[in-house]
Amino acid sequence: MKLAGNTVLITGGASGIGLAIAQRFLQAGSTVLVCGRREDKLQEAQQQHPQLHTRVCDVARESDRIDLVHWATQNFPHLNVLVNNAGIQRRVNPVETQEPWTETQQELAINLEAPIHLCMLFAEHLKQQQKAAIINVTSGLAFTPAAFAPIYCATKAALHSFTVSLRFLLSKTNVEVLEIVPPAVNTDLGGVGLHNFGEPLDAFADSVMQRLDQGELEVGYASSEERRLASRQENDAFSEHMNQRMFGGS
Ligand SMILES: NC(=O)c1ccc[n+]([C@@H]2O[C@H](COP(=O)([O-])OP(=O)(O)OC[C@H]3O[C@@H](n4cnc5c(N)ncnc54)[C@H](OP(=O)(O)O)[C@@H]3O)[C@@H](O)[C@H]2O)c1
Repeated sequence: MKLAGNTVLITGGASGIGLAIAQRFLQAGSTVLVCGRREDKLQEAQQQHPQLHTRVCDVARESDRIDLVHWATQNFPHLNVLVNNAGIQRRVNPVETQEPWTETQQELAINLEAPIHLCMLFAEHLKQQQKAAIINVTSGLAFTPAAFAPIYCATKAALHSFTVSLRFLLSKTNVEVLEIVPPAVNTDLGGVGLHNFGEPLDAFADSVMQRLDQGELEVGYASSEERRLASRQENDAFSEHMNQRMFGGS
């Protein structure tokens, strides 16, 4: 896909990777809409980029997703790109912590239910555009599960799987299906300071967006580029090493 000349909706686009994607679409001359739950974050992003269009929306809620689609398609009839980027990561041990099921349900809803439902809701509209794309943001952890965030990793593996199927199902239409597979990137994911060790955001975003612009369909960066292309054996060894490092040997 080309980054120029689109009308793009990015979920979770007011911060982190979503905002970095928004900036690159804006720089290329596209119209960009971003949504998120925190109005102050949306306002902050708009102050930084006055041409951004913003919308408060909690993608975990079905009714908010339906309202988002109506707002976006009615106000921006040329909308032709959906970026499913919003996500949360909880570091949790579900077989030890006695937490209410709603916590897990929320993570499933934001990371998996929302992108699948938004693809379904936008599909007809996107098919009517001359050229369109869906970009799903998954994770290197889709390929190498980490036990410190088991629900998160499961949602990302499922979203990768859905993306591959969706690409096939839309292959005879004008809708391209793309996937960004980030490694650990320095953002506020999971809480401020938890991803400080990650790749620099701008270098990551420059690389993946340039490769999408050049026509690639699935792109990683640094270690996630290796993992998305690795063998099952290599990825099992990577996961094992990561878990031993986090939890210590048994
Ligand atoms: N950073 C990494 O290391 C890394 C690695 C692999 C994959 N990823 C993926 O990259 C994507 C972006 O993450 P990030 O690193 O940029 O984290 P981030 O800085 O925390 O950004 C996440 C964004 O999603 C929005 N969001 C969360 N829940 C939402 C909801 N229910 N409805 C609407 N918006 C919601 C947040 O805004 P509000 O809180 O205002 O709603 C925020 O703008 C996620 O899907 C994440 O899983 C990140």
